[in-house]
Formats: sequence, C-alpha cells, structure tokens
Amino acid sequence: MSEPLAAAALDQLFRTARTQNAFLERPVDDAQLHALYELVKWGPTAANTTPARFVFVKSAEAKARLAPALDAGNLAKTLAAPVTVIVGFDEDFHEKTPFLFPHVADAKSWFEGPRENRHVPAFRNGSLQGGYLILAARALGLDTGPMSGFDNAKVDQAFFSGTAIKSNFLVNLGYGDPSGVFPRSPRLPFDEAARIE
Ligand SMILES: Cc1cc2nc3c(=O)[nH]c(=O)nc-3n(C[C@H](O)[C@H](O)[C@H](O)COP(=O)(O)O)c2cc1C
Repeated sequence: MSEPLAAAALDQLFRTARTQNAFLERPVDDAQLHALYELVKWGPTAANTTPARFVFVKSAEAKARLAPALDAGNLAKTLAAPVTVIVGFDEDFHEKTPFLFPHVADAKSWFEGPRENRHVPAFRNGSLQGGYLILAARALGLDTGPMSGFDNAKVDQAFFSGTAIKSNFLVNLGYGDPSGVFPRSPRLPFDEAARIE
C-alpha cells in the first residue's frame, strides 16, 4: 500500500509538465542517464519482457548520424537538445526471457517462431517503457520532447543495423526553455475518453 503522491509531485509528473521544443544550455550528465534507466527498468511489461532498448544520442558524431532521419520540423531542436533518446524495441526480446522471467521455465517458448510474430508484444511493451521514460525523466526533474516525425528505417540503418532492434520514437531530453513551449492543448473530458461499466 502506498499513499497518493503530494499535489506538487502530481503537477511535476502530469499537470504542469509540458512537452518541450527548446532546451536551456544546461548539460545532462551520463550519471543522470543511468539514474533514468534505473527507474525506467522497473516499469511493468508483459512477462517482464522489457523489450525496449534505448540509445542516448549525446555526442556530436551520433547527432550527425541521427540528423538525416529527422523531419524538417524536428531537426534544429533535436540537434540543440543535450540528449536525444532513441526508444527502440528488440523483436528478439525473448532471448532474455529465461533471465527475466525465471519462475516460469518455458516462458521463452511463448514467443518462439517467426520474428514478425513478436512485433506486437515488442511494440506494445516497448511503447509502455517509452512512456515510463517520459515520466521517469519528469520525476528526476528533467524535461522531454517526444517525437515520431522521423524516418524509422533510416534510424534503424544508422543505429541498429544487423540487429532485431527497431526504432519506435525519439525523446529529446534536457532542461526545457519555457519560451519554446506551445499553448497547452485541451484534453478530452472523462465522458468522451472513458466510461465506467
Ligand atoms: C509519440 C509522440 C510523438 C510526437 N511527435 C512529435 C513530433 O514529431 N514533433 C513535435 O514537434 N512534437 C511531437 N510530439 C509532441 C506532442 O504534440 C505533445 O506531446 C502533445 O501535444 C502534448 O503537449 P503537452 O505535453 O505540452 O501538453 C509527439 C509526442 C509523442 C508522445
């Protein structure tokens, strides 16, 4: 049993947190990226498959490899961000299932067969982990700018060639510059997005 978080924590995670389009010139060090993963890894996934794979694109060399894949509207802000996370998913995630789900001896067999049969669980659970990454970053006082406006095939070629890992979406990471934030868009009211049966 846990108590609800304080209102300030809920604000930081949800109510006042914003998607960032510009970042302050304040670096994010590697220890923060490790701290971020150390939170993200605990988020739940089916059979603890944890298929997400993360590349923290930080160096000028790696940013230059990412750049040709970006949509024009995402280019400048991504090059300027302290870090850009490639959130990928491993379609051969099941190879690690004996380690990750040890109390079920044959769990790997649930996912064996053609790679394309693992796409849905890899994408579903990897996407969840990408969401956990956004919230974990906010919990650590960082800001994010997620993006799907890029060429996935180019990113896969540049970063995941010869593997079963595919890119899902990107997340710029740093300390947001409030001047780059768009006006807050509305959200659907409960009755349009949900019902209780
Ligand atoms: C998966 C995903 C993909 C997105 N793709 C882009 C993108 O390519 N370019 C962009 O400028 N914003 C992108 N966004 C930002 C969304 O438009 C933004 O998060 C949303 O409007 C909510 O903004 P808010 O957090 O400030 O309320 C993306 C967000 C998500 C979660």
